[in-house]
Parts: sequence; C-alpha cells; structure tokens
Amino acid sequence: MQDIRRPIVVLDFGAQYSKLIARRVREAKVYSIIVPYSISAADLKAMNPVGLIFSGGPASVHQPGAPHPDPGVFELGVPILGICYGVQLFAYMLGGHVARADQREYGIAHLEHQDGTGFLDGVDARTQVWMSHGDRVERLPEGFMPIGHTENSPYAAIADTKRRFYGVQFHPEVVHTPQGVRIFSNFVHTICGCPGDWDMGSFVDIAIEEIRTKVGDKKVLCGLSGGVDSSVAAALIHRAIGDRLTCVFVNNGLLRKGEAELVQTVFRDNFHINLVYADAEDQFLSALVGKTDPEEKRKTIGAVFIDVFEAEAKKLGHLDFLAQGTLYPDVIESMSATGGPSAVIKSHHNVGGLPEKMNMALLEPLRELFKDEVRALGRELGLPEDIVGRHPFPGPGLGVRCIGEITRDRLDTLRDADAIFIDEIHKAGIYDEIWQALVCLLPVKSVGVQGDERTYEEVCSLRAVTSSDAMTADWYRFEPELLQRVANRICNEVKHINRVMYDITSKPPGTIEWE
Ligand code: XMP
Repeated sequence: MQDIRRPIVVLDFGAQYSKLIARRVREAKVYSIIVPYSISAADLKAMNPVGLIFSGGPASVHQPGAPHPDPGVFELGVPILGICYGVQLFAYMLGGHVARADQREYGIAHLEHQDGTGFLDGVDARTQVWMSHGDRVERLPEGFMPIGHTENSPYAAIADTKRRFYGVQFHPEVVHTPQGVRIFSNFVHTICGCPGDWDMGSFVDIAIEEIRTKVGDKKVLCGLSGGVDSSVAAALIHRAIGDRLTCVFVNNGLLRKGEAELVQTVFRDNFHINLVYADAEDQFLSALVGKTDPEEKRKTIGAVFIDVFEAEAKKLGHLDFLAQGTLYPDVIESMSATGGPSAVIKSHHNVGGLPEKMNMALLEPLRELFKDEVRALGRELGLPEDIVGRHPFPGPGLGVRCIGEITRDRLDTLRDADAIFIDEIHKAGIYDEIWQALVCLLPVKSVGVQGDERTYEEVCSLRAVTSSDAMTADWYRFEPELLQRVANRICNEVKHINRVMYDITSKPPGTIEWE
C-alpha cells in the first residue's frame, strides 16, 4: 500500500483546473494534494512527495512577478510533470527558451507521438488534446527531448528521462483530452512508481490516527445536521475517539418529514454516538413570525441556531474541539496561490464564528476530500445509503422553501408534498440522476374543484435539477407520467394544496432554491 503520507503534490500556479489535476491522480488511486506554488523546497521535501505536478496558470513566465517555484524543487530527485505553464517553467528556469505569443492557442488539437519513455504508453499515436496557452517553448533545456507534437506546438510533449521530468503543453486533466486519464496513470504509476492502491480504506486508518494524535485525551463537539458532510465527519471521529465525541442535532422545525427521527435512529441507535437532540422548533418558529424577506429569514435562522447550539454546548461543560465537515473544494477556494499552505478556510454556513466565540479549536477531518470521496468514506464507515447518497439540503431548510410567511401549518403542508415528490423519485429509480429535488410552497391561492366542491387552496412548485457543483444547473426532464402521478398524489393526499407546478428554470438565471 502506498503510504498516504507520500503524496503526489500539485503545485498550483493559479490554474482554474488544479482541482481537476488532484482528482485525476486520486482516480488513479494515488493520494494527491494541492499546495500554493510558493511553498519552499524544504517544506515540500518535508511532505515526502513521491512526485510533483506543476499546474497550468494564466501568467507568462516573462511577466514581472510571474509565479516561479523555489528552484530547489528541481533538486528534490522526484519526478515532475509540468502542465502548460508548468512546461514553460521548465524551459524558462532550466535553460531553454520561451517565446511570447501574440495570440493564444485555444481549443482542440491533435497530438502525434512515437513515445518510447513509458509516459505516453497506451495513448493512441494520434489523439485529441485540449490546448489553452499563450507563450510557447521554442528551445528545450538541456536533457529534454520532444516526444510528441501538434500542428502548432513542436514541443507539445517533452521528456528528460534522466531527471524524470515530463511536460505537456496541453491539458490532460480536462475531458476534452479523452486519453488524459491514461497519461496521469502512466505518470503516477510508471514514472513515479506508485502502486495505485490508495482508497478510502487506507484513508480511514490514517485519518483515525491523525484524529487521535490531534485530540489526545480531549473532547470533541460536532453539530450534526443530517447532511452528508457532518454525518460522515461524526462517524469518522466516533470511530477514532468513541465516547469523547458528543453530537448536537438541532431540530429547527424546518426539517423534512421524518428527518429528526432518521438522524436519531442512525446515530444514537445504530452507531451509539452520544447525541444531544435539541428540540428548538418553537424558538425558531416564534422568531420567524411575520418574516417574509429571504435574507431576513436566513439571518434569523442563523442567529437562533447559534443561540441554541451555544446553549446546548454550555450544558455539556467545556469541550476542546468543534468538528466541522469542511471539504477540499472549500479549502482550495479559500487558498490563494500566493498564500501559505495553511490558508484561511471559508466559514461554514451554520457555525461561522462559533469556534472563536466558544474558545474551541477546529477539527476538520474531511478537509482533504472531494464530495464523492466523502460519500465513499461514509459507505466505508457503514453509514446507510439514506444518509450518504442524499441530495444537498440548505441549512435554513424548509424556511427558504416555504415562500412568504412561515407557519407550522404551512410547514406541515410543505413537508407532506415534499415527501410525496421524493418518494416518487425514489420509486422511479432516478434519485441519483438528480442533483437536488425540492418542493416550494407558494404564497398564492387558487381555485379548484374536488368532488363536487369548489376549493380555494395553496399552490406548490416542484423543482428538480441536474448539476455537478450547484454553480450551474439545468431542470430535470421527467417522464410526464411521473409528474402526473406526483401532482395527483399531492392534490389528493395533502390537505391544503390544490395546484402543482413544475419549475423549468435553469441556473442561471434562476437559483436552485427559490429564496
Ligand atoms: P442556490 O439556491 O444558490 O443554491 O442555487 C446552491 C446550493 O446551495 C444550497 N444552499 C444553501 N446551503 N445554506 C446552505 O447550507 C444556505 O443558506 C443555502 N442556500 C442555498 C442549495 O440547496 C444548493 O444546493
């Protein structure tokens, strides 16, 4: 097994794709992390990397202040893969020549190669690649040879087999380079010699050891929302320190149907985790009386959450650590290319400011993982599919889906309609194709007829979207029969709804939530 403490380290030169590079390496079952390019060679050496990757970046090597790595990184004796700007750094820093370009080369090109170094093994002799660069390498540094070219780039792929430095002018990490996965696999397995058996099982062992070392004999508090991230964090920490973890689950009255029960069953009954269940429904609902503005609702819900959480924590006596389910994309987003490796972390929606206020240290055991890796970890830890596979759910919950005034009755109505929608999606076997599905109760009434009676009741809107990161989203194309079934069931089974709409707005211009 590869020692997870011997990673492939990606030096980030400001590329929009560095996250993808780390992902591709992990997909090849090798552990990988991203650090700012400015890391010193000594710090890098201390990480004991098995190989390095220089990401691309928007700069030109000639620009004053252009990002250059510590020259000592070339002396570490480990293989380096330079991508795009990374290749130009080889040429610029190791004695070649980089010409400034008047125009960018952007889009699809075709790489041709007869590589015998192993780096392009299994890659077709002519294969599609994605180019996006301005400058180009005109003369190779000593020791390098060309191993592949495109029509416009004689040095589209280069190698120095003695030092094990490899470079590609194109972007192997994007989908438009269909054989890019193979190139990463060759680099990490053949060139760097990683066996490629990093998986969630090995991550669990190391993560547990790290949590034990960090926490020692102290105690940890974890806010459990029922979402994937906090659930997996809690299960992992529990495996590491058992009863010294206490979780607090706040029922804010804005949860889905059956949610409070599910969380208690899974965590208290199955996992035997110390779970404090704070029923704060009244407190939230009374604070929300008369509030209809979305931002005001959010602020109110956030403020009451902090009050409730803090009050529960106080009852438990002093706890030393506050656990959060921060994920790697949040860490990277807040890490500037010029900052140090310990950059500022985006604060969590619900507990922002709490650790400082409560004088607790942060524990973030998922901060090196991507979302799908967190799901795999949850499965490895034995969490049920109900929890690990679930759609995202916003912190303010149904508060931002009960459009207009929030009352207990309207929330009950919304909960019932939501449960029917989700149930039908599950029954149709399409839950996992959908990023998120939700129902909004609208502040509108409409006339209907049921039996022989005229009705005047509420309207709800169904929304289901596909997305890969919630930044953009498209509406899901249901079979009409499913929509019909959902509408029938809602009008028949939910007391105060007599009309159902389907929302076909993409994001942008709409957002996923209505408020
Ligand atoms: P929008 O509505 O901005 O949502 O397209 C993008 C994603 O974020 C979720 N969301 C939230 N999550 N607190 C959260 O924890 C919030 O206040 C919040 N608002 C939106 C939303 O459900 C979607 O997944």
